[in-house]
Amino acid sequence: MLFKVTLMPHKTEVWLPANAPLTDLEYELIGKLSIPFGCRAGACGVCAIEVIEGINDLGEKEANEASFLEELGYAGDRYRLACQCRVLGETTIRVADYTE
Ligand code: FES
Repeated sequence: MLFKVTLMPHKTEVWLPANAPLTDLEYELIGKLSIPFGCRAGACGVCAIEVIEGINDLGEKEANEASFLEELGYAGDRYRLACQCRVLGETTIRVADYTE
């Protein structure tokens, strides 16, 4: 089963298999605007995203992820570290500090 991940603001659509890590976006979007990834282990914070739709379709947010996001200034349910997310349904996301 594939689920659509829409990356804003350009509405870039990528279809990923169920339970795929969001880090797979990097391979699907070579040469296009994607989410920046660094450590891929929930430790650097560069992959912070805002979930516009489908907050419950990216897997559980662990307490240490939530507290790290809060330290980064991204308090609230709608923020995630993309490297800690698994695709469990359709979602719409954007880089947390993206400014047009
Ligand atoms: S890539 Fe470092 S926290 Fe996600």
